[in-house]
Amino acid sequence: MRVIIVKNAEEMGKKAANLIAEEMKEKTSFILSLATGSTPLPLYKDFIKRNKAGEMDFSTVITFNLDEYVGLDPAHNQSYRYFMNKNLFDHINILKKNTHVPNGMAEDIDASCKEYEKMIDEIGGIDYQVLGIGGNGHIGFNEPGSSIGSLTRVKTLTDETISDNARFFEKKEDVPTQAITMGIGTIMKTKKVVLLASGANKADTVKAALEGPITSMCPASALQLHRFATYVITEDCAAKLTLNYETV
Ligand code: PGA
Repeated sequence: MRVIIVKNAEEMGKKAANLIAEEMKEKTSFILSLATGSTPLPLYKDFIKRNKAGEMDFSTVITFNLDEYVGLDPAHNQSYRYFMNKNLFDHINILKKNTHVPNGMAEDIDASCKEYEKMIDEIGGIDYQVLGIGGNGHIGFNEPGSSIGSLTRVKTLTDETISDNARFFEKKEDVPTQAITMGIGTIMKTKKVVLLASGANKADTVKAALEGPITSMCPASALQLHRFATYVITEDCAAKLTLNYETV
């Protein structure tokens, strides 16, 4: 696994954008899987800057988001579809029809999860996966205890995740208790992964994921088995790591 330590969140976004842009140049059509949350925002800002400068073209890019809350309409201002439109898709030359977010309002949620997984497989799989990491080690909404072989499905959120995400809602009770998420198995099928983490509050989690044992109790630790996973993390987030890593 490759670990790149950068000075701050802005540098983290820039570095991750570089990795993805290099890979995009090689392909005529590019399948990108995206994450929500505060962490990837510097990356999306960098994508927008490069797109406006004519350095990155999203016109043939197809995206699949990792997850979506069950029961939130895409128009809800805390839905992940809304987040993606507001923070990225509305500002780059991507075709909205090429952007996919799980449907948290589907009548038959299980069938729509299967369909999402099938769509990803049929398109030939994901070229690059962007991930954040939750305080409890989750990737997507694969909470601790998630099967390392899991595919897209509904997960019940832990109290920690609900509390972490309450800051975006008026009150904690408004946070949905379930979400659709690509599974850890879905993430393991992707060709390349970049996991972003910033801030001292994630230092213990990143240490467990990178230097601890592979365990479903720290879902991100499964990436130790991925053939091409890169962590791009800030200095303060890397403070508890004990091995030597690339520093830029
Ligand atoms: P954050 O969330 O980027 O808002 O810290 C990360 C996550 O929960 O995956």
